[in-house]
Amino acid sequence: MSISMRVLRCMPSVVLRRNACRRSLSSSTSLWHKVDIKNGPGLQHFIANSVSPSTQQEIDTSEVDIPYIDNVSGDGQKVYFDVYGCQMNVNDTEVVWSILQAKGYEKTDEVLLADVILVVTCAIREGAETKVWNQLRNYRGLKKKRNRDKPPLRIGVLGCMAERLKEQLIEKERSVDIVAGPDSYRDLPRLLALSRDRHTAVNVMLSHDETYADVMPVRLDQNSKTAYVTIMRGCDNMCTYCIVPFTRGRERSRPISSIVDEIRYLSQQGIKEVTLLGQNVNSYRDLSEQQHFVAADTNLAKGFKTVYKSKKGGRRFADLLDRVASIDPEMRIRFTSPHPKDFPDEVLEVIRERANVCKHLHLPAQSGCSSVLERMRRGYTREAYIDLVQHIREMVPRVSICSDFICGFCGESEEDFKETITLMRTVVYNWMFIFMYSLREKTTAHRRLKDDVPDEEKRRRIEIMHQTLRMITEQTNKTQLGTRQLILVEGASKRSRQVLAGRNEANIKVNFPAGLLPMSPDSQERRPVEPGDYVVVEVGFLSLLYLILF
Ligand code: 5AD
Ligand code: SF4
Repeated sequence: MSISMRVLRCMPSVVLRRNACRRSLSSSTSLWHKVDIKNGPGLQHFIANSVSPSTQQEIDTSEVDIPYIDNVSGDGQKVYFDVYGCQMNVNDTEVVWSILQAKGYEKTDEVLLADVILVVTCAIREGAETKVWNQLRNYRGLKKKRNRDKPPLRIGVLGCMAERLKEQLIEKERSVDIVAGPDSYRDLPRLLALSRDRHTAVNVMLSHDETYADVMPVRLDQNSKTAYVTIMRGCDNMCTYCIVPFTRGRERSRPISSIVDEIRYLSQQGIKEVTLLGQNVNSYRDLSEQQHFVAADTNLAKGFKTVYKSKKGGRRFADLLDRVASIDPEMRIRFTSPHPKDFPDEVLEVIRERANVCKHLHLPAQSGCSSVLERMRRGYTREAYIDLVQHIREMVPRVSICSDFICGFCGESEEDFKETITLMRTVVYNWMFIFMYSLREKTTAHRRLKDDVPDEEKRRRIEIMHQTLRMITEQTNKTQLGTRQLILVEGASKRSRQVLAGRNEANIKVNFPAGLLPMSPDSQERRPVEPGDYVVVEVGFLSLLYLILF
């Protein structure tokens, strides 16, 4: 029986409404009615707009007669986006904006002018969720203050929190009108249309194949010379602490051809840097190109394992990276976030050989202690990780590496924690993202392990990690003194218009004095340096003075 059938059963009766809907909320497309159920939208909407053709055939519509939403147009309503979390959320918002713009919505950067507020949320740690709950309270205030001459302000919660907390969002935060998980953004015009009639509209169905491959994202910052391109979604790794596999679903990759088309278009638009995105970006595998089968069909380096059965065939990340890098040699390519298990030599060779692929890798270690890594289900030991770092440095000279670390995970002893600190010092990262473990419901760690490191101790450990980070980055910055670096200019620095800011290959922000550039390589005429220019700067004393060389 299809998912929509369960929704159908909850339609005719108000008594059934709460329980039946609650059941369907956990896994499927559904609606939550605040008003009389008879006036609410019904099965027709699911059939017309949400249900795939194969599912449609399974539904018997004979017994229902429910109004039909045929106007999903935005009619110039203004949408305000409030985005939390990772780069993927920024790019998802660009997908959402593309979908809504096509239906006649407008965007506003002024929350007081909005007809609809869409909050794109993150659920990775409790702190990320707390921020959103607080903000929702503020938005509830705006809703109450709304001028009665205008249609009611509507609030939508999108993304990972929507997926994780569906019922709670509606019950606890009664001002929420739309709840849409990461795989249901195509359905937003319909959900928004339903919410206009004071219904709460919910779609949290996860998909096995949604990649939004055919949606050309509309960039939120039209002045920026950098862009994100999502190449895969979801994660099959099931690290025991992580909620992502539950909120973002199974791993799936977008066809190479659609990625190449999008990046070609971005290059024509003058974009100078693209970051390829995915929860597990280097497990990319375009299975639509099944004819491309290679004998050595594994990504796994020695000492790495996965909990899932490796996929076979198709084009892998090295192929994609090579194709993408060849589109525009003046366009920098980055990618994030990779998993250390997916760095076969083919990938490292492309990074080494292609001048425009940044020699900078994000290599999340999470812990420096093998027994903690085992409990985290990371699929490698400390030794295997260090071997990989050495191998990467041999294959890609001058590569810089950054990492993610968690302290205070279940059962982490003082000795275990010290191993994390020694790993940080051994590898000498150019940057580290560090977090205190935050228990997430549904995860394996929640079900099987004990969150037994006290908060106070977690705070002590993270402070030591911060000190270590400061010490290491001071050291690495000193080694940069006197070096010449290629900077992609972003614009004026926060400090002054006379000081410009850009990023070096290692993604570190660099400030340097504004200057002039020749109009063309042989020209005597000069123009000011602009966003999107590449300049070579010499890193000066105390990293404060940078000289433009050309
Ligand atoms: N608690 C703390 N940090 C976490 N991360 C993922 N899940 C948790 C959690 N439950 C961190 C990991 C990951 C980064 C994106 O967030 O370090 O790489
Ligand atoms: Fe979460 Fe692990 Fe997947 Fe990263 S690899 S998203 S940490 S489950």
